[in-house]
Amino acid sequence: MNVAIIGTGYVGLTTGACLAFLGHQVICVDSDAAKVAALERGEAPFYEPRLPEILAEARPHLKFTTDYAQAIPDSQVVFIAVGTPPGEGGKPDLKYLEAAARSIGENLAAAFTVVVNKSTVPIGSGNWVGTLVREACERKSPARSKNFAVASNPEFLREGSALHDSLYPDRVVIGADEPKTAEVLYTLYRPILDQTFTPPLWLPRPEQIGAIPLISTDLASAELIKYAANAFLALKISYINEIGRLAEKVGADIAQVARGIGLDARIGTRFLQAGIGWGGSCFGKDTAALVATAAEYNLSMEIVQAARHANARQRERVVEKLLSELKILKGRTIGLLGLAFKPNTDDLREAPALDVARMLIDRGVRVKAHDPVAMPRFRHEYPSLEILCCDSPEEVASGADALVLITEWPQYRDLPWERLAQAMQTPILLDGRHVLERARLERAGFRYISLS
Ligand code: UDX
Repeated sequence: MNVAIIGTGYVGLTTGACLAFLGHQVICVDSDAAKVAALERGEAPFYEPRLPEILAEARPHLKFTTDYAQAIPDSQVVFIAVGTPPGEGGKPDLKYLEAAARSIGENLAAAFTVVVNKSTVPIGSGNWVGTLVREACERKSPARSKNFAVASNPEFLREGSALHDSLYPDRVVIGADEPKTAEVLYTLYRPILDQTFTPPLWLPRPEQIGAIPLISTDLASAELIKYAANAFLALKISYINEIGRLAEKVGADIAQVARGIGLDARIGTRFLQAGIGWGGSCFGKDTAALVATAAEYNLSMEIVQAARHANARQRERVVEKLLSELKILKGRTIGLLGLAFKPNTDDLREAPALDVARMLIDRGVRVKAHDPVAMPRFRHEYPSLEILCCDSPEEVASGADALVLITEWPQYRDLPWERLAQAMQTPILLDGRHVLERARLERAGFRYISLS
């Protein structure tokens, strides 16, 4: 099929590359001319494992442009995958979505086109996008304004494993108010739903995988599924962090507690990793949006609110722990291991490292940090945040009063801890993710502390 994708961020570019890899003809539209030029040269605009490989393999079926007129008229399916950054009062800012919908409307051709919301959008946005596309189309070519329909196809990919999650998803959700619309998307996703494509050599198909479950539903349900899924995962993390706080008081081991409850199949072992809490572009924004949407209907989402509060507390607890160890923070040097909001990405949106650094800097601390991939992006996006970027964990440790493991990059699990401890002013290590081995760290000379 001929597919257009509006927006070449994590969701848009991954979706475009995967659909092109499956053999569809894909054209990606982005308003950023420099980004389009870089993509044309085969350069990935952000760090995501295996993205360069799939872009190279999908290249024969993949084009990039800044021009809607080049992309929309020939496409049977148009995905909107633009950013919906946090806006006022917890509501996402929809200006990019609005601009995309209008531009699509202005360029619709005579043939039936399905416009798909793939960005995470507030409930009801399907209708809103439909109105915007129709109005724009009526102004330009009224005869075509009935020849499109809107669908919702929420994305569940995780940064760091975006390609795996797109090619081998747990489920595909399609929301549409007419069967004709949904059928276009079944055809598009057929190779994924039936797993009939030849897997890339660098990303083999998981052995247990069968046909992928399809949830075919109405627009509002599809939109709510996305928010409800993200909020549930967020509250699972906040729940284990709350239990972690109690575990610390009663002398229990939170890792064992998490495993002990997670092996109950009704609960599940994933997303029970206690630590500094969630960051990233989705959980914070989506839980805020869910609360804001509910408020419009006079509902208060108390469980979701509590999860947000518990998450913010985890960051503060890092500072409280350091204060209780060092007694005075002013004039100290604290080293952070990791800046990205999680491993395998250079994304810094709502990264715990940034909040912790700001709180420490406010208290007069000198903050040093290392990250295997996110430092160039950090320097570019946060030029005024005074974190001294170091070339290695050893350099972070040198002269520091404490180290905090913020992002559980695999390379931080096995550092030359003896050398690091010796280079420090006081060898204190706060394991913000519960991933290091206490005994190993203590043997190396560290005082090991964690958040629970
Ligand atoms: C999330 C959802 O998982 C994905 O389905 C959705 O489409 C977008 O939002 P992402 O933000 O990329 O994906 O990362 P994810 O792996 O879900 O992690 C989110 C945050 O939770 C990270 O900061 C991570 O460190 C934290 N986390 C995750 C925990 O603290 N404990 C856990 O057990 C799991």
